[in-house]
Amino acid sequence: MILCSCTKMKSCEVRDTVRAALVEERWTVITPGRLFHATGRQMNCGFCAALVNKTIAEEIDRLRPEGPKP
Ligand code: FES
Repeated sequence: MILCSCTKMKSCEVRDTVRAALVEERWTVITPGRLFHATGRQMNCGFCAALVNKTIAEEIDRLRPEGPKP
């Protein structure tokens, strides 16, 4: 599913990028800006930011079910 109509970024790309970032550093902070940069894109209108943020959060919750760092 395409999350960002400006850059054609798909939800699977967001999830893959989040997964890669967490493998690299388990407690890293992942923002939409970081995600766009990591995928070689640049946010344009920002309309997708909330949806990208929600997808990032869902993937983090899925991969870190133990919750936030103590
Ligand atoms: S819809 Fe993602 S930057 Fe415009």
